[in-house]
Amino acid sequence: MKQKKVSKAVFPVAGLGTRFLPATKSIPKEIMTLVDRPLIQYAIDEARAAGIKEFIFVTSRGKSALEDYFDSAPELESALRKSGKDHLLDILKDTNMDSGAIAYVRQNRPMGLGHAVWCARRLIGNEPFAVLLPDDVIAAEKPCLQQMIEAYAETGGNMVAAMEVSPDKASSYGVLDIGNDMGSIVEAKGMVEKPPKGTAPSNLAVIGRYILSPKVMTNLNRMKQGAGGEIQLTDAIAEEIGDGKVFGYRFRGQRYDCGSKAGFLQATVAFGLARPDLREEFGAYLNDMVALQKAAQ
Ligand code: UTP
Repeated sequence: MKQKKVSKAVFPVAGLGTRFLPATKSIPKEIMTLVDRPLIQYAIDEARAAGIKEFIFVTSRGKSALEDYFDSAPELESALRKSGKDHLLDILKDTNMDSGAIAYVRQNRPMGLGHAVWCARRLIGNEPFAVLLPDDVIAAEKPCLQQMIEAYAETGGNMVAAMEVSPDKASSYGVLDIGNDMGSIVEAKGMVEKPPKGTAPSNLAVIGRYILSPKVMTNLNRMKQGAGGEIQLTDAIAEEIGDGKVFGYRFRGQRYDCGSKAGFLQATVAFGLARPDLREEFGAYLNDMVALQKAAQ
């Protein structure tokens, strides 16, 4: 089946990031660093690998560090050039975005993820689009969004990244009610945001990667409040079940919830150990730490 190409992505980054206070009082959560790169860089790289050409950030007050991060830094670049630090100049290249490739829209109040995505409606127009939540960092051989774009080329409709979670965790996620299960692709017959404990229709949870039809924006126009009094993206996607189609995609990779402290620390260890320049020293330190902990018990 031939689908319209997905070339635009929305990055909602307007949340308050309260779980990381006091750090997020002055630093946007998305600028916090995993090893030496801010969370947002991982999301941008993933989107680029999936063929995204237009990057739309939904920001809020206090997020100017994010805008600066993607700007060129002429003084820094010239200092590095003068001192012959070409490898650092290469690293900086990944942070530069072509003029006009990046757009910022403002969400005036944090009314929920659905509302944040809706803020980008005029820039999306009548095209399918991706949504990436930068606090979900996914380590994968083939980047998660790329896997999804390939699957979406076959299915069309709407697609959400999905992973199995333990039953006691399901109430923290959007959860799919599974219809036709085709293995990596699952057709959803229902979708519920943060189901009360014991009521989740399955253990298949939605995480922060989506490919959506413009119809979802139309659904968001109605601004229905959902779980937690917020305007939920899940609800607007669920409206498409039956009319259009909604698919869950069991991606191959390891997702880290960097919106939570424990998830961020786990990601730091995993990404630190995956780095050839750090593996030996960091791995030896971790081994020592574990040995010390055991000895103390
Ligand atoms: P979270 O649920 O993690 O909320 O949002 P948060 O505000 O970032 O963090 P906590 O829970 O207070 O610690 C998931 C994603 O949706 C965006 C966030 O920026 C994050 O990328 N978001 C959420 C918005 O852009 N606007 C909102 O109104 C809510």
